[in-house]
Amino acid sequence: MKTIFNNSINKKNIGKEIEVYGWVQKKRNLGGLIFIDLRDRSGIVQLVVRPENKFYSLAETLKNEYVIKAIGKVVERESKNKNIATGDIEIDVTDLVLLNTSLDIPFTIDDETTALEDTRLKYRYLDLRRNAIKDRLILRSKVCSVIRNYLNDHDFIELETPILCKSTPEGARDFLVPSRMSKGSFYALPQSPQIFKQLSMIGGLERYYQIARCFRDEDLRADRQPEFTQLDLEMSFVDEDDVMTTVEGLIAHIFKEIKNIKIKLPLMRMKYNDAMRDYGSDKPDLRFGMKINDVNEVFKNTEFEMFKNAEEISCLVVENSADKFSRKQLDSLSEFVKTYGLKGISYLKIEDETTGSLAKALTDDEIKQLKTELKLKKNDLVLFGCGDYNTVKIGLGALRVKLGKDLELYSKDKFALLWIVDFPAFEYSEEEQRFVATHHPFTMPKDEDVDKLMTDKANCYSKAYDIVINGYEAGGGSIRIHDGEVQKKMFEALELTEAQIKTKFGFFVDALKYGTPPHGGIAFGLERWIMILSGTDNIRDVIAFPKTASGNDLMSECPNLVEKEQLDELGIKLK
Ligand code: AMO
Repeated sequence: MKTIFNNSINKKNIGKEIEVYGWVQKKRNLGGLIFIDLRDRSGIVQLVVRPENKFYSLAETLKNEYVIKAIGKVVERESKNKNIATGDIEIDVTDLVLLNTSLDIPFTIDDETTALEDTRLKYRYLDLRRNAIKDRLILRSKVCSVIRNYLNDHDFIELETPILCKSTPEGARDFLVPSRMSKGSFYALPQSPQIFKQLSMIGGLERYYQIARCFRDEDLRADRQPEFTQLDLEMSFVDEDDVMTTVEGLIAHIFKEIKNIKIKLPLMRMKYNDAMRDYGSDKPDLRFGMKINDVNEVFKNTEFEMFKNAEEISCLVVENSADKFSRKQLDSLSEFVKTYGLKGISYLKIEDETTGSLAKALTDDEIKQLKTELKLKKNDLVLFGCGDYNTVKIGLGALRVKLGKDLELYSKDKFALLWIVDFPAFEYSEEEQRFVATHHPFTMPKDEDVDKLMTDKANCYSKAYDIVINGYEAGGGSIRIHDGEVQKKMFEALELTEAQIKTKFGFFVDALKYGTPPHGGIAFGLERWIMILSGTDNIRDVIAFPKTASGNDLMSECPNLVEKEQLDELGIKLK
């Protein structure tokens, strides 16, 4: 068995004979000496094979990615390599064994690669050899271990819940699995273990956690996969503050153990409505400022047509940047916000004389007021959006994020964490023409809003909270309804009929009647955490075998067609 990993070999081993195993990263012949960079999971160590060595001719045949075993003495290097951990030493090979050969690889195993991601995904087993992927997976394993240790020490029990289950109401589409034994019936893959973790509280387990696989058939984005992992928690006899405080302890512990960063607690809490008003997002990136300014007051008597009829006029001030933006660039910002429903962006450049698309449209007095209100300075650029409230906020919020990134307004190693709290209990679905639950229907409304569930849905808030890091929704949870009466009111508010309630969650509603303790919990998106901790914005970088944005596994070529016999057995006929 291999007992030594390359990176643990150092000056202390000088003079000792050791046995190393790994892959040929690179081979060079310099003045008759053959140098081999031997790579293993931990890193590179240099092997030297001398011309007099009986394995010299074998060494000559080695190619990249051949698998070898070498025995030799650790010696100090003449010319040290500061770029690798083992750069002070090398191994003077006495024995060399070729364990396996390799075909020519489709891309080199380097930190930086020009290979297309599709090629890397097709040959993911080779891609895993690259530090950029491998190190992130090692980090992921370490984070899971830190989480488990912390929660085990804090009276949590790790539980596994079913993968084949009844559809749970998380809001996305289910992946369905046909049942052979009950033809025509289907299991659903869990969108999250939500119902089971609540049942475990009814079951008296009091504190549960699980590193759980979840499945959602939804449109994918850079931070979404159809199959992902949550750290899922649930606790009994708690209220919002208790869950948030417990989770903050865990968060601080993860940052300390993984990044050696001390997170200042308690974390900031921002109300959902304030986040939407000031950042146009329920996951504001607070690594930089540039709040959205509401300037309705300045224009309350304006004659400028576009502003006169707008429900909302807001703006972003890009400090000291007017000279950085050409007309063309500003036009492209206008195009950018159109994807968020805004008609475009109008702007002012604060120079000796104010210029920009709005300079002529606004009165001197309005410009003066703006300058005072917003404390504008020379060379500031002001970007305006107008229209209905949500569209303006969301459009400017997205623009803010883009500008923050493009103008590099924050350092890459900064972390900005906060809670978003006081979510609306309902959101209006234009598609369904009715109010639907913002979270799931088991989310507890604020005490003061229980009586408004039927009469004033737009102003009901819930005991829900999201943890946001660097503009990512890194987790979300809530206190659950444990009272049968409140649950009934909630179902009524969601216009679910008795029959629907019974078929969808009858067993769960029954369970709630058997001494359910007050309880609540949260789930972290594990991949998002690893993305944030390892500095990537591509979720596939933190998953060993991910799917493409269209949900395909390019390596195994799935999803794929199946044999007719398999379908027959399931009683399924394709349309
Ligand atoms: P929610 O749906 O907010 O809550 O999910 C919790 C967290 O999981 C992550 N996440 C995802 N990550 C990758 N790919 C996806 N498709 C994906 N969808 C969600 C996000 C999100 O914050 N049962 C509740 C939790 C609870 O109430 O306790 C739930 O699943 O980081």
